[in-house]
Amino acid sequence: MQSSHDTILAPSILAGDHADLKSSLKKIEAAGLSWVHLDIMDGHFVPNLTFGPQTVKAMRSSTNLFFDVHLMLDNPDKLVDAFIDAGADQVTIHVEPDYPIQETLTRIKTRGCKCGVVLNPDTPAEAAKPYLAECDIILLMTVQPGFGGQCFRKDVLSKIEIFANWRKELGLNYRLQVDGGVDLNSAGDCTIRGVDTLVAGTAFFKAEDPQAFNTAVTK
Ligand code: DX5
Ligand code: ZN
Repeated sequence: MQSSHDTILAPSILAGDHADLKSSLKKIEAAGLSWVHLDIMDGHFVPNLTFGPQTVKAMRSSTNLFFDVHLMLDNPDKLVDAFIDAGADQVTIHVEPDYPIQETLTRIKTRGCKCGVVLNPDTPAEAAKPYLAECDIILLMTVQPGFGGQCFRKDVLSKIEIFANWRKELGLNYRLQVDGGVDLNSAGDCTIRGVDTLVAGTAFFKAEDPQAFNTAVTK
């Protein structure tokens, strides 16, 4: 199933150098890429903590990369404005916690930012169906979120097919993104099914030649 979008790689800064985020951003730019994926964790929705709007703002001052901000928070509705103020270009929010999802998506859009919903590996596709028309992107987690370096969950491949089919049947144009355990092998399994946006942390930052890695996964 083809996507009408070009396939792109969004490296996750989670696997970068947190004592020198600037150099990690430069590494992404040097590989010729235009997106960076920023994982925001609250220590509650996921069992890990990363960074907040202040750090995003600091990064914003040193790069023009597209900021793809993935909020792993129990109450994303309380913080979307702060991340948009800090320089987010796109904000994705999970469907699992209890908060006004539709209102939050509308809020993000009203602020001139792209938006999307995220599903954990065990969350059924139907949970995102009410929001599809609003979304610029659908993010399917291919690991349980919280940590980089986990193994890709092949059982999510069938869910990718569902979203690729819905995109076609419903005449929608959202990007289809996967996040977690994306490497040379799993990337191909995803893109052949209609994924056009790949997040990779470990595989990108550990690659001997990040530019060649990008070429290989997006071909
Ligand atoms: C997982 C994060 C991912 C993570 C991916 O909770 O949402 O973005 O950084 O890392 P890798 O590519 O190492 O699985
Ligand atoms: Zn992520």
